[in-house]
Amino acid sequence: MVTRKSLVLGMAGLLAATGLSVLSGTAEAASTLGAAAAEKGRYFGAAVAANHLGEAAYVSTLDTEFNSVTPENEMKWDAVESTRNSFNFTAADQIVSHAQSKGMKIRGHTLVWHSQLPSWVSGLAAADLRTAMNNHITQVMTHYKGKIHSWDVVNEAFQDGSSGARRSSPFQDKLGNGFIEEAFRTARTADPAAKLCYNDYNTDGVNAKSTAVYNLVKDFKARGVPIDCVGFQSHFNSASPVPSDYQANLQRFADLGVDVQITELDIEGSGTAQATSYSNVVKACLAVSRCTGITVWGVTDKYSWRASGTPLLFDGNYAKKAAYTAVLTALGGSSSGGGGTAACSVSYSKQEEWSDRFNGKVTVTAGSSAISTWTTTVTVTSPQKISATWNGTPTWDSSGNVMTMKPNGNGTLAAGASTSFGFTVMTNGNTAAPTVGSCTAS
Ligand code: G3I
Repeated sequence: MVTRKSLVLGMAGLLAATGLSVLSGTAEAASTLGAAAAEKGRYFGAAVAANHLGEAAYVSTLDTEFNSVTPENEMKWDAVESTRNSFNFTAADQIVSHAQSKGMKIRGHTLVWHSQLPSWVSGLAAADLRTAMNNHITQVMTHYKGKIHSWDVVNEAFQDGSSGARRSSPFQDKLGNGFIEEAFRTARTADPAAKLCYNDYNTDGVNAKSTAVYNLVKDFKARGVPIDCVGFQSHFNSASPVPSDYQANLQRFADLGVDVQITELDIEGSGTAQATSYSNVVKACLAVSRCTGITVWGVTDKYSWRASGTPLLFDGNYAKKAAYTAVLTALGGSSSGGGGTAACSVSYSKQEEWSDRFNGKVTVTAGSSAISTWTTTVTVTSPQKISATWNGTPTWDSSGNVMTMKPNGNGTLAAGASTSFGFTVMTNGNTAAPTVGSCTAS
């Protein structure tokens, strides 16, 4: 039976306390990526773009699931120092403030890289380039001193292929091999507490490129050049799958006395194959005690740099993919929400649609045990508003954008049984799908 209940949205503030207490409940135990990773002594992060921080579904997914962020582009040289010695930290600061307000860790990316480098830098002669490089490192690290747990000091300095040679870049070509050492020494002075990483791609398995990086790190450790960590970007697809010696490669670096981090993970594909690859990456990290954390290169497929390859853990509607469940499971977590045996899952589908609104339906399904009650959240993107709900009892956060839904009456579901609730979203010009949070059962 369906009961229709209209809501007066102005009352949302009165219900805020209830809504918030329920929401905090969804983050307990190991029902999220961040919490599950934390139980293993690791972080689980995402690359974040400042221009998406106004999107409620993006932010709620980020805040619920991740406990570390990497600014995707906002700390790069062209973003912070497009004009010499004139620093603009606005966009990067937005990400840092958001992360700090949620207690998330922050990775700094990146200080010295041949790409996204302003033309004024590449035009400098050697002595001036050295001054500019050291000034850039010092200014940026000083601005964020104490806030960044690890910095990608130098990014992608080696060539692809079998040569093991350095990549041509203004730094390499004008300053020679010593530029990496100089960058790390400058970085250590600027923020002695930050972990200093070398970060690269196609170095995930044992190959000529990763061996060249390995030899660099070995040399640095032998000579006391400061280096604390190596980042393995881990951008995978069918042409470049997860290497079979991934774990062994991480381990050989760890054995040099540095931490290893998976810094830009994404795996093109879908379904079980993608899920299995993700699971293998997580297991490899967990098997290496110095693998301190994993960052995926984006929150949702729709904003990925490889969007057409759907390489991330949440689809374009922020629904959890099979890859998400595989990662959570590999981390030792569980989608049951309460950490016990009671479990449920949720799925969203759009129903009727009109010019100014659409109806959504969420189906709640009990896991392999009967449940006596359930709760989940639906987040809409401002200026959208939920104007009506049916077959559930909603409460709201203070913004009115996050609805926590509980059963309307008896919440009992037999093992595997389903129920559903519905709601109307007034689009106010935005037709984005709502985000449905995880399901918590007891
Ligand atoms: O912000 C401008 C926008 O104003 C303009 O209209 C638009 C038109 O092209 O470009 C926008 O900038 C783009 C930027 O992403 C922000 O979306 C750049 O063109 C685009 O080149 C840039 O791509 C980034 C890429 O690095 C640049 O090399 C990707 O977002 C970012 O995911 C990617 O990240 C790199 C890591 O830093 C290093 N490892 C590889 C990884 C993937 O390529």
